[in-house]
Amino acid sequence: MLLEKIEELRARVAELKAADEEALEALRIKYLSKKGEISQLMNEFRTVPAEQKRELGQKINELKNLATARFAELKEGFKAQEKQASKIDITRPAAPVELGTRHPISLVRKQIIDIFSRIGFTIADGPEVEDDMHVFTMLNFAADHPARDMQDTFFISTNPSDVTKNVVLRSHTSSVQSRVMERTQPPIRIICPGRVYRNEAITARAHCFFHQIEGLYIDKNVSFADLKQVLLYFAQELFGPETKIRLRPSYFPFTEPSAEMDVSCMLCGGKGCSFCKNTGWVEILGCGMVDPNVLEACGIDSTVYSGYAFGVGVERITNLKYMVKDLRMFSENDVRFLDEFVAAK
Ligand code: PHE
Repeated sequence: MLLEKIEELRARVAELKAADEEALEALRIKYLSKKGEISQLMNEFRTVPAEQKRELGQKINELKNLATARFAELKEGFKAQEKQASKIDITRPAAPVELGTRHPISLVRKQIIDIFSRIGFTIADGPEVEDDMHVFTMLNFAADHPARDMQDTFFISTNPSDVTKNVVLRSHTSSVQSRVMERTQPPIRIICPGRVYRNEAITARAHCFFHQIEGLYIDKNVSFADLKQVLLYFAQELFGPETKIRLRPSYFPFTEPSAEMDVSCMLCGGKGCSFCKNTGWVEILGCGMVDPNVLEACGIDSTVYSGYAFGVGVERITNLKYMVKDLRMFSENDVRFLDEFVAAK
């Protein structure tokens, strides 16, 4: 009889649950107080025959210990819950989700790409680690041209018996020109955006890497007038319809004739100010007609085809558009600087 009661109570105690601390206390009184069910067992215990006392006494004790431990455990559970609950302030506003912004260089690169894709230019890509062949040789750089020099170019490896096998970090995106011309016959109409490297001391005005966008158009009867028209369109799309351009003679090994292009100063509109050093003009890119030697080196018949190329510095344009005074800002990733471009698209 008593043994069954003990077993039954034991089963109940093992399954005990309480919704809150108050309910738990009520249960504790029900089972463990002086008049509780477990204490009541003692009354019956007195009447059991002597030979069973030892075994039953032990069982009752075990039951008591089990119940005490179970209550302690449940109580502990409530305490932990309470602690947790006090840590979470459910009335506190959620942390704002901070949206990143496009990097100014990416913004301007995208603007430039958009302008040229509207008139049919597609994007071409090439490696940043390049061989001398594509960066210099195919682009008509003489073997002793200073641009090949250690002072300008980062070398990955050199090959004294054959300089065309030198491996370098490309110093201009014109290397993509060579790659595209080598594998495609005209018409070719591409822009090549990318990062380039030059071995320069890092200052406010120069950095060891920057970004360029190279343009290349090759077809039958492409003339300097076509180049000028496309560049005028580009300048006006970028800086506004009032913008004027002027081309000054220049030199690049891979173009003949070559020119540098200025746009009318975006600050004073060409009247002359401290920004344009009172000239009314600011320089923005290099360009020219692709040298026939380059076409031939790339397997394109220069008696049938002609073309133009131009190269724009993305940092340069970004500086002009957003008046960034120090080139280093672009690679420092200072959030206060980057945040200034939130509104720009
Ligand atoms: N590659 C030249 C530079 O890095 C720019 C350029 C490109 C000039 C195409 C003319 C034609 O300075």
